[in-house]
This record gives sequence, structure tokens and C-alpha cells, in this order.
Amino acid sequence: MDVRIFIEQKIEETRTTAGADAAISALSGGVDSSACTVLAHRALGDRLKVIYIDDGLMREGEADEVKTIFSGLGIAVDVVDAREEFFAALTGKIDPEEKRKAFRNTFYSVFGRSVKESGARYLVQGTIKADIIETKGGVKTQHNILEQIGIDPEKGYGFKVIEPLRDLFKHEVREVAAELGLPESIHQRMPFPGPGLATRVIGEVTPERVALVRKATTVVEEEIAALKPFQAFAVLMSDKGTGIEEGQRRFGHVIIVRSVESRDAMTAEATQVPWDILMKITQRILKEVPGVSRVAYELTPKPPATIEYI
Ligand code: XMP
Repeated sequence: MDVRIFIEQKIEETRTTAGADAAISALSGGVDSSACTVLAHRALGDRLKVIYIDDGLMREGEADEVKTIFSGLGIAVDVVDAREEFFAALTGKIDPEEKRKAFRNTFYSVFGRSVKESGARYLVQGTIKADIIETKGGVKTQHNILEQIGIDPEKGYGFKVIEPLRDLFKHEVREVAAELGLPESIHQRMPFPGPGLATRVIGEVTPERVALVRKATTVVEEEIAALKPFQAFAVLMSDKGTGIEEGQRRFGHVIIVRSVESRDAMTAEATQVPWDILMKITQRILKEVPGVSRVAYELTPKPPATIEYI
């Protein structure tokens, strides 16, 4: 792929598709949505409205970082605070697919409202090839693949979708993002799933449980960063594990640390993390994340496991 030619073509295509209409992009700060937002901004300029939906499921400090990076690129980002709505939709849900559906429906209803307010007719989305393949293959329902799963975005939500990156794999998207002038913290960013930390909380997704997994994720990312894994994160289990505190039995949270190596997220294997790093992660999580009694490192490859837990 010639990255420059690809970018020129997609800018042209986006302009032709949108015509004189306005478009909207929901930026998450991941490499996919960032690249397609910059691309669409080049194509449409001020006719592209960029929003960041704060779903309460992002990592530590992510919203501020994204705003700062994009304002540095001359792209204004509107933050939509929808935290309560997402948590309300997730209340009481423990089935993985139900959680994904609750997330997706809330995402599109919040997004649909923003689209209506903005007057945009088009929705720019960073769907990539792996999303489409896995959704078609029935591995899971990705929140950003509407038509493939039988939802008509125009009928259901009132807008048409533009997906400039749909033929690319992750490593190609990174090249495009770098060429578009995005900083390394974005173009080399670890993949982060649309439903955010909700994919890493087994059982009910509540603000308190998300806060726990967010803290553990920060520890994992900080301690493992030097190894540059494809993806590394923490997962909160639903059951508790027995521990001992001051001679007493105590039931505490169980955190799984997952780090994988992969090229395109279609297959993956566990990172060979040095023992001292695993020990440091364990000690820090036990100390910094309240109520944790056990930390484990996951070794399962994909397949048979997926990378995320839901
Ligand atoms: P799995 O868990 O299916 O994940 O092995 C493969 C890659 O996709 C990311 N992922 C998602 N990305 N929306 C996204 O945009 C989603 O719903 C979603 N679910 C998983 C995951 O982080 C991994 O990189």
C-alpha cells in the first residue's frame, strides 16, 4: 500500500460521499478513530464535527490527553458527558453479549442525539478489516459494525456511515496515522476496545468496579510499557478469592493481568514477561488497588481465547 496515495484517495472519496453535507466523528483517542477523524477533517474541514463521548469506561486521563492532542492539530473536540447513561444501561448485566449490546445501543443513542443536534448526515467511523471479519465470522458483535449485523444506521439512527479504513489492518492504520501527522502516543497506541473497560470487568459493570480495573490497568501499562507489547491490560473477575489479612480470612478481588503479542489481533500469544516485572505488577496492584487479594498472569493464546474477556 502506498500510504500517501491511500490518504489522497480516501480524502477524495469522503468529499464526494458527503457532498455539501456535514459529517460527525466520534473520537475515542484510539489509532483507528484518530486516523479517520484527521482524514475526514482534511476532507471536510469545519463541516466535520468531532465529539468525544465520555462513557466513563476510558483509561486514566484519556479524555484530557485526546483533547490536548487534537487541539494541537487544530481540530476542536466536544466532550459529551454520558457516563450516567452508560452505567444505567449496564446495570444488572452480566452476560458478555448483553453488555456489548447495552454499550452499543447507548453509544448510538447518545451519538444519534449529538448527530441530530449537529445537523450532520454522515457518521465517520474507524472500522477496520479485523472488525468486519470477526463480526461476519460471528466471533462477536463489534459496536461499530452496523450493517453487517443487520442494523440499518439510517433507519435506526438517522445517519449514513463513512468508513475510510475498512480495508486496512491495524499495522496499516498505524502507518496512515503517522503519515497524517498524529503523534507516536496515538499511532503506536495499544488497541483499546470500543466498549472500553466494560470488556475487562467480568460480571456487573459499575462505576466502582470500573475504577478498580482502571487503577490496575494503569499499573500494568506503566510496568510493561518498556516491553512494547501489542496489548496489555488488567481484568477484574466477578468472584472473590480468599486471602489473609492480619490473621483473618478476607475475600478480595481477583485481577488477571493479560499481555499479548500479535500483528493484527486475529491471533495472539501471551507476552513472555520477565519474572521481576510480573512480581512488580503484582506487588503494585496489591498495594494500590483497594480490596485485591489475588493477581494472576494469563497464558492463553488466541485462539482458543479472544484477547479481551467479553
Ligand atoms: P478480541 O477480544 O476479539 O479482540 O480478540 C481483538 C482486538 O479487537 C479489540 N476489540 C475491539 N475493538 N470494538 C473495538 O473497536 C470492540 O467492540 C472490540 N472488542 C475487542 C481488542 O482490544 C483486540 O485488540
